Amino acid sequence: RPGEQTQVWRYRGKLLRGDASALEAWAGNYLGPIIRVRRGQRVRIDLINALPESTIIHWHGLHVPEPMDGHPRYAIAPGERYVYEFTVVDRAGSYWFHPHPHGRTGKQIYFGLAGLFLVSDEEEATLDLPTGPHDLPLVIQDRTFDGDNQFVYLSERATGAASQNPERGGMGHGMMGGDMGDMMGAMGGMSQMMARMMGVLGDQILVNGRPGASLEVERRPHRLRLLNASNTRMYKLAWHDRSPLTVIGSDGGLLAAPLQRDYVMLAPAERVDLWVDFGRWTAGTELTLQSLAFEGGMAMGGMMGGTALPDGAPFPVLKLRLEGGTRRSVMPPQRLSQLQQPQPRAAVNFNRPKVFNLTMGMMVWGINGQSFDMLGASPLETVRLGTHEVWEFRNDAATGMMGMSMPHSMHVHGLQFRVIGRSVAGEFSRQHDTVKAGFVDEGWKDTVLVMPGERVRILLGFADYPGLFPYHCHMLEHGDTGMMRNYLVK
Ligand code: C2O
Ligand code: CU
Ligand code: CU
Repeated sequence: RPGEQTQVWRYRGKLLRGDASALEAWAGNYLGPIIRVRRGQRVRIDLINALPESTIIHWHGLHVPEPMDGHPRYAIAPGERYVYEFTVVDRAGSYWFHPHPHGRTGKQIYFGLAGLFLVSDEEEATLDLPTGPHDLPLVIQDRTFDGDNQFVYLSERATGAASQNPERGGMGHGMMGGDMGDMMGAMGGMSQMMARMMGVLGDQILVNGRPGASLEVERRPHRLRLLNASNTRMYKLAWHDRSPLTVIGSDGGLLAAPLQRDYVMLAPAERVDLWVDFGRWTAGTELTLQSLAFEGGMAMGGMMGGTALPDGAPFPVLKLRLEGGTRRSVMPPQRLSQLQQPQPRAAVNFNRPKVFNLTMGMMVWGINGQSFDMLGASPLETVRLGTHEVWEFRNDAATGMMGMSMPHSMHVHGLQFRVIGRSVAGEFSRQHDTVKAGFVDEGWKDTVLVMPGERVRILLGFADYPGLFPYHCHMLEHGDTGMMRNYLVK
């Protein structure tokens, strides 16, 4: 709640820009606090809805009982309270939290309701990984500002925007629901409608809430925890001098061993942990983390949404100025964690993966042609507690509208899965070549990028908690306008 928020940003480095001290500068932004817990810890969190519209918070990536998951059907009205109480059973890793009321998740995250949920554990503590000020959370987002430096979400401004669209219910069919009329009138036509459905892209890149972010860091090893908390934008991240990235973790925590990548793709909601020894560069170096050009992004959504920075365009993300420390050669730990190879044969449907087509019909996103149904799950979406299954997300060419095809960032609630296969249709292979070396499929994931023409196979285990959990595209406007369904664990 405004004025009552406990901010726990731990970063104590120095900002190159800005007039406040680093701690104030990083804490004074619009993002939520970082919540830090140990594995095994019992947490209680009270959500008090001080917004003029409904909301609910989801703990993204955590394995929690169904009433604690923040399903949209648990959304609470203004003034109400929702008490979360659960034990954190997940591995050490960078999880996060954000609202999940149906039809308005994109808007509420855009205006700042999101934060990191960092879990530590004993296995991680035995490693000599950088900690304290050398463990840097970096939340990457894109935003558009108006002439008064306020956020622009579709045609809404930050000031007064939240009250513009009061409770309406029945958002089950996304944009074809009750707010269609408002949209045509208040939002001023076609391009806003397109952005509402295809996704919102901002033209400014923010790190931890700061546009044009730049930091001074010591020349020694650091851990960088990257979260893409953007609504729709994907990043193809690389150092400007093209030195390789050392990846040590993904959505669900540490990998078995470090990996080298020339670049890393980060789709909405994905996380990646990098280990970097800034001591390998000379003092005074300005190092830029940038997003490289790629193909296969949102073909026209950006243009239609009026952004000056199209999907797939190159741009800088964060500038680092390397100071102090000493030049010496340090390696990351070569064994990071006990991570088993995925065992697809353990799946009850090993020979017949369940197929989930990502679809667009009659201007509505869907999965297998169906959009979100608050309480429903089909027989295909019903799974047995205690079993494993193989699912395949198919982003076949036919999902495009007017010949367009779009990437999707597919997320499953309540668990971590393994990626066990990818294939791409021939006509998409050339654009796929511009991104494919950047996937980090080696560890536990809760969100996976499915590029145009691509099919991605995942192995999921349904343990401990029966109930109804969402799975959806984390390009938030896609999820808000229909590309979301439930699965039921029985
Ligand atoms: Cu971050 Cu339903 O998810
Ligand atoms: Cu989630
Ligand atoms: Cu999508």
